[in-house]
Amino acid sequence: MNVGFVGWRGMVGSVLMQRMQEENDFAKITPVFFTTSQIGQKGPEIGGSQPLKDASAIAELAKMDVIVTCQGGDYTKATYPQLRESGWQGYWIDAASTLRMVDESVIILDPVNRHVIDKALAEGTKTFIGGNCTVSLMLIALAGLFEKDLIEWVTPMTYQAASGAGARNMRELLSQMGELHDCVADELNSPSSAILEIDRKVAAKMRADSFPTDQFGVPLAGSLIPWIDAELPSGQSKEEWKAQAEANKILGQSDAPVPIDGLCVRVGAMRCHAQALTIKLKKDLPVSEIESILANHNPWVKVIANEKQLSMQELSPTKVTGTLNVPIGRIRKLAMGGEYISAFTVGDQLLWGAAEPLRRMLNILQQ
Ligand code: HSE
Repeated sequence: MNVGFVGWRGMVGSVLMQRMQEENDFAKITPVFFTTSQIGQKGPEIGGSQPLKDASAIAELAKMDVIVTCQGGDYTKATYPQLRESGWQGYWIDAASTLRMVDESVIILDPVNRHVIDKALAEGTKTFIGGNCTVSLMLIALAGLFEKDLIEWVTPMTYQAASGAGARNMRELLSQMGELHDCVADELNSPSSAILEIDRKVAAKMRADSFPTDQFGVPLAGSLIPWIDAELPSGQSKEEWKAQAEANKILGQSDAPVPIDGLCVRVGAMRCHAQALTIKLKKDLPVSEIESILANHNPWVKVIANEKQLSMQELSPTKVTGTLNVPIGRIRKLAMGGEYISAFTVGDQLLWGAAEPLRRMLNILQQ
């Protein structure tokens, strides 16, 4: 199987390459590496160091059985229609959001929607798109309850990491943290210095025109940003709109969607998104039963008992980062009644949130 890779050097692409090497995925395919900027230069060793091909050359792309792209939405917009119009019948696997909601595509998250993927393959679907990171992570965590049709609605309130906005944003977050520390480093070294004076200096630094905010537009370190992605006429941010639209498409139930809506907030985490969920169940089930339904759905979801020490340790971006684990905890009944539960979940937005569903789809095509 000739598999063309585009955008393999960016952040999501690099995580994809790393995961494919860890799982020995390259042994099963013939990889061909494309580039938008370094045509003819030496490609990576995993591709036999072959010269990089032109990612805009439709005739070259059309020689591939599968194209996997992490190049981003602009590339998809510019290339995909031309490639299909040229008569190409290959499989297009894409991390970008451009094609997620079109009829000819399926959003891939196989631990949750393998049945949707298999049906689509049997019907000749050739376009498979990775979901939004918060949506995919929420579904890996909640899949047990969705599978048993126990959810009436969900409100996810998110705590999203800098990586979701891009590599440059991660750097900016760290630069901001560094500047804040630097401006009070002397005072921090002296236990007798007044905390309110330290706080005043930090606030002044954050508000200064010189504070680095080119990427986020406003300070994130020491602060937060209660808006992610574009504004929509509904008053939702586009990130908030995706929850219901994408989750129900993934589950193959867009015609009878479960309402999923909440607020999306950027916080100063590096690459793990967290979400506080308020869920209305269709039934008043005991917490122990809810926990076992969640825990038994897939190998990656981990139910964490609702205890302080465990929650602090396990439901933490620090613990989860760089792993495929999706812990969910803080599960308890809310004061509103027996059908209302809370939960809190954390996941690495570059793994299940981006790269992992793509490499797994490539494997499904080989089965
Ligand atoms: N839109 C997400 C974020 C990225 O900004 O965190 C992953 O889809």
